[in-house]
Amino acid sequence: MSKNSPIGIFDSGIGGLTVARAVKDLLPEEQIIYFGDTLHLPYGEKSPESIRKYSTNITSFLKEKNCKAVLIACNSASSVAFETTKSNLSQNTIVLNVIDPLVEYVKTKFEDRTVGVIGTKATINSNIYQDKLGSHCTVKALSTPLLAPMIEEGFIDNKISSTVIEEYLKNNELSNIEALLLGCTHYPIIHKEIEAIYSNLVEVLDSNIWIAKALNEELEKNGLCSEKLAAPDEFYVSDKTASFEKSTQYFFGKQISLTELKLD
Ligand code: DGL
Repeated sequence: MSKNSPIGIFDSGIGGLTVARAVKDLLPEEQIIYFGDTLHLPYGEKSPESIRKYSTNITSFLKEKNCKAVLIACNSASSVAFETTKSNLSQNTIVLNVIDPLVEYVKTKFEDRTVGVIGTKATINSNIYQDKLGSHCTVKALSTPLLAPMIEEGFIDNKISSTVIEEYLKNNELSNIEALLLGCTHYPIIHKEIEAIYSNLVEVLDSNIWIAKALNEELEKNGLCSEKLAAPDEFYVSDKTASFEKSTQYFFGKQISLTELKLD
């Protein structure tokens, strides 16, 4: 493992490309190896055991690729498979989940205040945000399972998306919040839409900039920052369709070509 080793990033599908985009924007000299487990999508509807099994298979692949860091770019997997992922990698691999960097920011900024969190059923039912933030602020949590498939189908900034989002946001579970945490890596795509629905009166926070910054800090601390892009980025999915490839446009900001790789 060296400065030129790649950064592994994985998600249940292509939502984690929003994290890959944030990493690429902050650290353009780092090579990314992305794996989207589209064959097993959505993780949000799966049991913790299944999510841990899928995450272990992906981590083994990223280990073979000699990644110096692995980012779990999926809240569902971050919620239930962080420890499993760490134990499957060597001790000197940097392993980050998408939850902790945002939680650290919210802890200080919203101490003694009320925040909401939305995410998949797997994430919300795991109680991870409630457990990590509960002693610092009041946390109101709501699972919003229609949002990820809605975004993947391209329903963004239109009548359908605003109706679905508004319906969720007016739920009693999210009343009187001062900030809303977007606990799913698909949701940065509707970040602005949510802000507009709240007329900017509620601070809307996604984890992307925080995880990119946390990665930068860890690379610096370990003397592992790449000085020059060593090789082109690689993007793998476990089940490739034309529609996934087309949707990379929304998530990564430009269309990228995906390579299919079945892991089991
Ligand atoms: N990207 C996943 C997450 O952050 C949501 C999609 C899924 O359910 O697999 O939880």
